[in-house]
Amino acid sequence: MSLDQTIDDLRRDLSAAIASAADQGALEAVRVAALGKKGSVSALLATLGTMQPEARKTAGPAINGLKAEIASLLESRGAELREKALAARLAAERVDLTLPLPPPPSATGRIHPVSQVIDEITAIFSDMGFSIAEGPDIETDYYNFTALNFPEGHPAREMHDTFFMPPAADGEKRVLRTHTSPVQIHTMETVTPPIRVVIPGRTYRNDSDQTHTPMFHQLEGLVIDRSSHIGQLRWVLEEFLKAFFEVESVVTRFRPSFFPFTEPSMEVDVRCDRRGNEIRIGEGNDWLEILGCGMVHPNVLRNCRLDPDVYQGFAWGMGIDRLAMLKYGMSDLRAFFEADKRWLDHYGFRPLDLPTLFGGLSA
Ligand code: DAH
Repeated sequence: MSLDQTIDDLRRDLSAAIASAADQGALEAVRVAALGKKGSVSALLATLGTMQPEARKTAGPAINGLKAEIASLLESRGAELREKALAARLAAERVDLTLPLPPPPSATGRIHPVSQVIDEITAIFSDMGFSIAEGPDIETDYYNFTALNFPEGHPAREMHDTFFMPPAADGEKRVLRTHTSPVQIHTMETVTPPIRVVIPGRTYRNDSDQTHTPMFHQLEGLVIDRSSHIGQLRWVLEEFLKAFFEVESVVTRFRPSFFPFTEPSMEVDVRCDRRGNEIRIGEGNDWLEILGCGMVHPNVLRNCRLDPDVYQGFAWGMGIDRLAMLKYGMSDLRAFFEADKRWLDHYGFRPLDLPTLFGGLSA
């Protein structure tokens, strides 16, 4: 067979093999079979060494031309196959960005009304220059009662429906705090007046009906200075009520009352209007009792090593849950603590709508 014939056959067979190589592996096999050490084109090239110079002159360029041609076909088929492989991979790994995402927690989560109202109340008092304090839920009998001027055996102790705890290791009597007032004592023991503080927290009494739960929330306020007086107490409370209920004006009524830790002691009613189930604060002809307050009793100051001839102050305490019920129209307190998601979805607040005085408390 002539050399030209051999070259033509090789060109035809190799071109066909290259064109039909289905993947990189098959193409590599064709390359090795043609251009590898023992490949058909390489074998042909090797014959050049045994040729006469004359014959080599024409055979050299012809065989090398075949080699270059095959190399170039391999190269372009390789590029084609790589492109095909990439396209297949991109198609297989495609992410469908149009799939709907589940809504994030910030869109579905809800803030409990008690947390919301605590944030609202503390925003208002922070704006008035109050700081915020907290105390322990388990208190000693001393902080919950004795330091607050509840004498041993005084009937006021019985009125608190106290949950008693096992005594501490040193025998000290302990209770679940029945009010936030013991944090007044902790504060006066550690802070040098002037004191302006509000104290939100959990409180406990053995009581349960539509408006009472064994665990509930109170907010205590305490102001101690050299010249604090009832006029300031009244101003602070009225400013608070206006801001909290988001009304232009409120009318309050201070009625004499009794708390062991204040003298005089008062209960505060606020003017309201009751239409059916709805209560509107700031208008109408009815009164709604809203909190207890008074001037801090000299015995309480003395118990905290403050001289009642130098310092005086006022304090108040109110039910946070009750304020939440009034403002947001919930009628059963027990539902607050049943952890029913449907209730929370309905009455809860969006997590990113933080209550501020400048942005609006409840808007
Ligand atoms: N501790 C009282 C209670 O739980 C509420 C209270 C009344 C707190 C008058 C005060 C106050 O600070 O001055 O019933």
